[in-house]
Amino acid sequence: MPTAKILLQLDPDPQISVFDSVVAVDSGVDQLFRHGGVSADQVRDLVYGLIFTRSLAELKNSAIFIGGSDVSTAETLLKAAVGSFFGPMRVSILFDPNGANTTAAAAVLAAGRHHELAGAETLILAGTGPVGQRAARLLARQGARVRIASRKLEKATSVCESLKAEVAEGTFLPYAVSDEASLTAALAGVAVVIAAGAANVQLAAASALSQATDLQVLIDLNAAPPVGLEGVDPMDKAKQRDGRICYGAIGVGGTKMKIHKRALARIFEQNDLVLNAEEAYEIGRELELGRVVIFGTTASSGTIQRKTGRTAEPRSAEQGGPADA
Ligand SMILES: NC(=O)c1ccc[n+]([C@@H]2O[C@H](COP(=O)([O-])OP(=O)(O)OC[C@H]3O[C@@H](n4cnc5c(N)ncnc54)[C@H](OP(=O)(O)O)[C@@H]3O)[C@@H](O)[C@H]2O)c1
Repeated sequence: MPTAKILLQLDPDPQISVFDSVVAVDSGVDQLFRHGGVSADQVRDLVYGLIFTRSLAELKNSAIFIGGSDVSTAETLLKAAVGSFFGPMRVSILFDPNGANTTAAAAVLAAGRHHELAGAETLILAGTGPVGQRAARLLARQGARVRIASRKLEKATSVCESLKAEVAEGTFLPYAVSDEASLTAALAGVAVVIAAGAANVQLAAASALSQATDLQVLIDLNAAPPVGLEGVDPMDKAKQRDGRICYGAIGVGGTKMKIHKRALARIFEQNDLVLNAEEAYEIGRELELGRVVIFGTTASSGTIQRKTGRTAEPRSAEQGGPADA
């Protein structure tokens, strides 16, 4: 009898994400061990329960999902989980708190379908939240210049500094956007805008967007009205509006779900993966191009080493690629 696929769901929230549990079950997980209200100091023993119970050959059938609404707290769980591993005693981890990684990956993939990202001038409105910061990281790794807008210049500047520490080769430029004039200035020369603001907050009026003559791709991640970019419908998926390509939150969400499910499948293929935003993006590329990305392995200390994913043979339709984008 094959060993059951066990997913240990670690969530810092007292109420564990039902969304993440449903996606896990729908992705073929046999047994879901759901732990909520988890703090970093509890992670090691939970991980030990997972890695000491099966043979090395069977460990790839055990994996961890780290979620939760507070992304920075979830990051402490990730660090603790990776720090619990030693030698071959490890399992793969999917890290997607609040859907931040898969959503950012799907947004950047959407942008890249319609505009060359290398050298592109891009703007992330409300780019200081978890989704915006991850989208910024991914854009910069593709060679785009990234403007980060916030209501407060200090906040945008601080986020740009921490992004630069993560992506040394990246160009991050802080912008304060608090009215139509500052928004127009931030949009000047921008080809791709991603609105990553909180739910129910409009970040850009249609009048300001229409004045941005270089703008070609508009992506809004806020589905809850009012949406972030006036005139973009949440259902838009590569929808042409006034000669521009528009994506709404639900239009992006289809790709996000595919990445989430594929990532869940990947963590049961080997026992040494840590799938973060960059890997989510590579998995999205894999789905679009029909090629398998082979990731490097993780470090045994609390830090996570990332090696550039490389592509292998195209996948067959049965294996899942390419997805309809
Ligand atoms: N489709 C999906 O599956 C999916 C998954 C995850 C998230 N999302 C969506 O993606 C978006 C970003 O998520 P997130 O978690 O990164 O967002 P967040 O942390 O809640 O907010 C992002 C930024 O929005 C700005 N903001 C907050 N309240 C505001 C207000 N009243 N007026 C103007 N700006 C305000 C803040 O920027 P400043 O303070 O710097 O101005 C904040 O850093 C959300 O709309 C979320 O619903 C979608």
